[in-house]
Amino acid sequence: MATVTPLPLLAITALLALALAGVLLVTGQTAPQLAAHLAFALGVMPLVLAALGYFVPVLTRSGAASRTAAWGPPMMALAGGVLAVSSFATDFSATGLSLAASLAGIAAISLGAWTLRRAQHMLGPRHRGLDWYLAALGFLLLALLAIILMPHFPEQRNALRLFHLHANLLGFIGLAALGTLQVLLPTCIGQSDPEAALRLRRDVGWAAGSALLIAVGTALTRPGQGVAAAPALALLGAVIYGGVVLRTLHAWRTRFGSGLVQAHGAAPSLVSATLGLLGLLILGIAHGFGGLPARPAVAGFVIAFLLPLVSGAAAQLLPTWLRPGPQSPWHQALRARLCRWGGVRGLTLLLLGLLIAGLP
Ligand code: HEM
Repeated sequence: MATVTPLPLLAITALLALALAGVLLVTGQTAPQLAAHLAFALGVMPLVLAALGYFVPVLTRSGAASRTAAWGPPMMALAGGVLAVSSFATDFSATGLSLAASLAGIAAISLGAWTLRRAQHMLGPRHRGLDWYLAALGFLLLALLAIILMPHFPEQRNALRLFHLHANLLGFIGLAALGTLQVLLPTCIGQSDPEAALRLRRDVGWAAGSALLIAVGTALTRPGQGVAAAPALALLGAVIYGGVVLRTLHAWRTRFGSGLVQAHGAAPSLVSATLGLLGLLILGIAHGFGGLPARPAVAGFVIAFLLPLVSGAAAQLLPTWLRPGPQSPWHQALRARLCRWGGVRGLTLLLLGLLIAGLP
């Protein structure tokens, strides 16, 4: 019998958490750290770990994950997310936050070890999407380690915070999303993309290396003093990362053309999300030059990138998650309902998110 996946539950939780966090970030009703972690630590982190647990058996052409492998890491990450949000809602306790980061870190390590085991035992050549997933988990671990180190190096707190947020947003979420989209977008359109494997192999080093440059460069930047090369490292990283996203968009446009610009469907929503990521990188560069404040970019990341990404992916995959196995008219009908106005929804979120992120 197929394993019941936590994905439907976590996708709905993440969409609700993202929508609520988007409103809270824009209206300023709560501490920005609380709203950000409602979206990222409670909503998105467990969902991404569950999604990796779902896609790894597909990429390694092995059997579905056992119940423990499918539920263990996401639920442990969810517990970490709940604890982080409760700490931000109450006293910002360093002990509570370190415990939350440790729980999420154990979740990332166990999922990474399981992924490596599956990759080692697979027959045939290794699917390059796995490298993106392992790199994403590596970034999550480093980002969480920065939180655990914060109480021990109080004078470096801001550097560790900047490393944590960029490693998480562009390393963990960005790499997991880009690695998955190369496979998911053609599926949504119902066509194959034979060049996706080549892009996955060629770009993983550029994407991971540039995310690291951004995280380290921003962490080492000290306004008015500090290492002069640091802002240049972050800027170089943003340009290379943007180049990877742009190359992906260009390859899709060449192969799929007008299939990407439709009022309905999951693919147009995923394209809006990818354009949102590119737009945020450009706004990030403007922010690096002092042209824009940083906080609205976090709201922009939620609205222009994560909401079209998660809603588009969930609309395509929810029917299969709810009833795994051969596709039937039931799957098609539910998918068509969920994808209705997907393109319009994605474009609206993209424009709204970029507008908010670009507010002076
Ligand atoms: C359980 C896991 C996590 C813990 C314990 C944690 C903890 C923290 C802490 C202590 C800060 C510094 C807050 C301050 O300025 O005082 C922070 C900032 C931040 N974290 Fe996390 N974090 C976690 C997971 C994540 C994840 C998974 C993401 C994104 C994918 C993320 C994104 C951010 C962002 C964007 C900020 C900056 C928020 C702002 O100042 O507006 N965090 N985190």
